[in-house]
Amino acid sequence: MNSLTEDIKQHITDVRDFPKEGILYKDISSLFLNTELCHRIVLEFVKFSKNKVDAVCGIESRGFLFGPQIAQLLNVPFIMIRKSGKLPPPVVSKNYNLEYNKATIEIKKHFISQGQRILIHDDILATGGTAKACAELITECGGIATQFSFIAELSFLNGTQTLLPHCNEIHSLVSY
Ligand code: PRP
Ligand code: MG
Repeated sequence: MNSLTEDIKQHITDVRDFPKEGILYKDISSLFLNTELCHRIVLEFVKFSKNKVDAVCGIESRGFLFGPQIAQLLNVPFIMIRKSGKLPPPVVSKNYNLEYNKATIEIKKHFISQGQRILIHDDILATGGTAKACAELITECGGIATQFSFIAELSFLNGTQTLLPHCNEIHSLVSY
């Protein structure tokens, strides 16, 4: 068996000029054709967060792929952070800049308890703008973003630097 890093990289393909010209898109979809690899990925995320968080917040859309499985194995709640207009009220919102767009995220504020330690989970760490906005949203709700986890990090976009002021437990399974 190859290392987890090698196996993940073999399943992530580069797509040029998607969704816009000049963007090199990392396509993670074929990871999900390999059940054994998905199992190893979830266990690695669980190892990172074991006994360290009270809830997992997954970022729509692709943070919903592994997020609920991580939460179930950690035996903690899974909370959705969704794009604008998807969650019914009451919600709290935050605007932010994405690598190739502007966006708004929302959460059900009362799902977060005061002082709750939160893992923020997503597929890709690019500029870090999305995950940072999530950490700010969680703080506004009274929670504490204590960990971030990602399948892959685009290190040339310095997302880690963007997130470090929020917390220093940042785990990406592979880095480009
Ligand atoms: C992508 C990716 C991350 C985010 C990373 O999501 O899945 O959520 O961008 O970018 P950042 O670090 O520069 O903020 P996207 O909003 O494209 O949509 P999707 O997950 O719904 O496909
Ligand atoms: Mg996303």
